[in-house]
Amino acid sequence: MTKLKVNGQEHRIDADPDTPLLYVLRDDLKLNAAKFGCGLGQCGSCTVIVDGQAVLSCVTPIMLLEGRQVTTLEGLGTIAEPAPIQRAFMEEQAAQCGYCIAGMMMRAQALLQRNAKPTDEQIRAELEPNLCRCGTHMRILRAVRRAARLMDTADTSPSANGGAR
Ligand code: FES
Repeated sequence: MTKLKVNGQEHRIDADPDTPLLYVLRDDLKLNAAKFGCGLGQCGSCTVIVDGQAVLSCVTPIMLLEGRQVTTLEGLGTIAEPAPIQRAFMEEQAAQCGYCIAGMMMRAQALLQRNAKPTDEQIRAELEPNLCRCGTHMRILRAVRRAARLMDTADTSPSANGGAR
């Protein structure tokens, strides 16, 4: 039995301690934002946040996570009240097929939590491990910049920073 804290909620997981976090999130906890892309730590689609750091959940066994805080995209905001990073990605229409986007948002969120005003170079470097095959990279960059502005103003009303680039 492994105790996991995910999005603020405690769970007791009856699975092999070697089980990758991604499988537990999707299969046991029904949190499906994090995606299985490669399963090898090479694409970033499974990215979640653990204690403020972006982590590839497909290669992270749950035995490493007891006593730590796991956050998935579902833990950031809701459809009715999206978090700034979610709002920014929607407003910039940064998703095409959408498969990579949850991982992109989680890695960007981790960056913005430790660096509220990253440079373009820092954003590019941070997102390097996360692959997008649709080619929406420029929109993703704009979305992260927009999210930084939204978080800076701490005003998440729909009109805040509307249209600002
Ligand atoms: Fe985890 Fe590709 S599914 S890095």
